[in-house]
Amino acid sequence: MQSKRRILLIIGGGIAAYKCLDLIRRLRERGFSVRAIMTKAAEQFVTPLAVGAISNERVFTELFNLDDEREIGHIRLARDCDLIVVAPATADLLAKMAHGQANDLATSVLLATDKPVLAAPAMNPRMWLNPATQRNVAQLKADGISFIGPAVGEMAERGEAGPGRLAEVPVLIDAIERRLAPRDTAAMPLAGRHVLITSGPTHEPIDPVRYLANRSSGKQGFALAAAARSLGANVTLIAGPVALPDPAGVTVVRIETAAEMLDAVTQALPADVAIFAAAVADWRIAKPKSEKLKKSAGSEPPALKLAENPDILKTIGHRSKDRPRLVVGFAAETENVVANAQKKLKSKAADWIVANDVSPETGIMGGDRNTVHIVTRDGVEHWSDMHKTDVAEKLMVRVAIHLGQQSADIA
Ligand SMILES: Cc1cc2nc3c(=O)[nH]c(=O)nc-3n(C[C@H](O)[C@H](O)[C@H](O)COP(=O)(O)O)c2cc1C
Repeated sequence: MQSKRRILLIIGGGIAAYKCLDLIRRLRERGFSVRAIMTKAAEQFVTPLAVGAISNERVFTELFNLDDEREIGHIRLARDCDLIVVAPATADLLAKMAHGQANDLATSVLLATDKPVLAAPAMNPRMWLNPATQRNVAQLKADGISFIGPAVGEMAERGEAGPGRLAEVPVLIDAIERRLAPRDTAAMPLAGRHVLITSGPTHEPIDPVRYLANRSSGKQGFALAAAARSLGANVTLIAGPVALPDPAGVTVVRIETAAEMLDAVTQALPADVAIFAAAVADWRIAKPKSEKLKKSAGSEPPALKLAENPDILKTIGHRSKDRPRLVVGFAAETENVVANAQKKLKSKAADWIVANDVSPETGIMGGDRNTVHIVTRDGVEHWSDMHKTDVAEKLMVRVAIHLGQQSADIA
């Protein structure tokens, strides 16, 4: 049995420090042990008590603590691990690391270590883009420190956006796993499989500046891509316009319209598994205008004539050449959720339909949680309400088991 992989997590004093609790929980679920060091500033954002409770380990905060030095000194802390992860890596920590400062426990350990270090910066975009921070990052990269993120997006401060968000927890975990076992993917359940996933809405142009769209956030499809990747698959994610960063290790193809999505899906074949989680527009504007439609006083608003879009799930489900061995469709319904999914299973020649109720009161469309029903030819499984990343992980494990059984049947 593989011994536990040991992470030393250095938590810096940034607003994203609270995300460490989720990071620690998920690392432990994957069999890592996590020991944490917190800076003084980090204690302003999350308590050592919470970090200790989640990690189930003592949390280290002081450089000058006689008990610590006798039991486990800062040099041993620096060496007794397989990887040091700095998350969030504040602008201040990066500056100190780049200059070899060692005036607290975190920086002393970072200077004394002989282990690989992965830094996950998180800060205001102006702090990140400041030439001083960029100089420090360039120096640290030259010194062999690996970086993950920052991701681009909204900041905690209102109205601020840009590069500076802490990489999402699944992305951090993927980076940690790859840093520790860069080539150890052969034994993973989806190793050698190509998994194709669509995600997000499509935008159907009305004119050069307007479009038809829907409220899909892409969160479920992106979580599926990350989960498939963490099980060792080669993943192609075909994504409509969404504000989500590329999941680590995944080939991402960004498209806008349903026609472009079908084209990208066809080009990405062959695949072992295709999961269609995108909320593809059923209709497009029959004749989008090449110039912006103008309002003119007294005239009627323009009538928008719609044309039907290609049905991507149905097209791939019915394909005779290169049909993936497992074709999974997502069905977004607002009524008769399971009955409609059962109809879709047949009409689209899918193997499984993952049905979810997207009525506004469920908060599923755009939200972080999902309640799904897995409809197959053998029956229906009702899954309880859970985070979209948990749905993704559970579904990909089900996919891996299914492919494993199929291979055993063929052999
Ligand atoms: C409310 C608040 C939020 C902060 N968020 C961040 C942040 O996200 N990233 C960052 O680099 N610094 C942030 N800072 C500044 C750091 O806390 C400050 O530079 C501190 O000295 C960092 O200490 P450390 O690097 O030892 O953890 C924030 C400060 C405050 C008051």
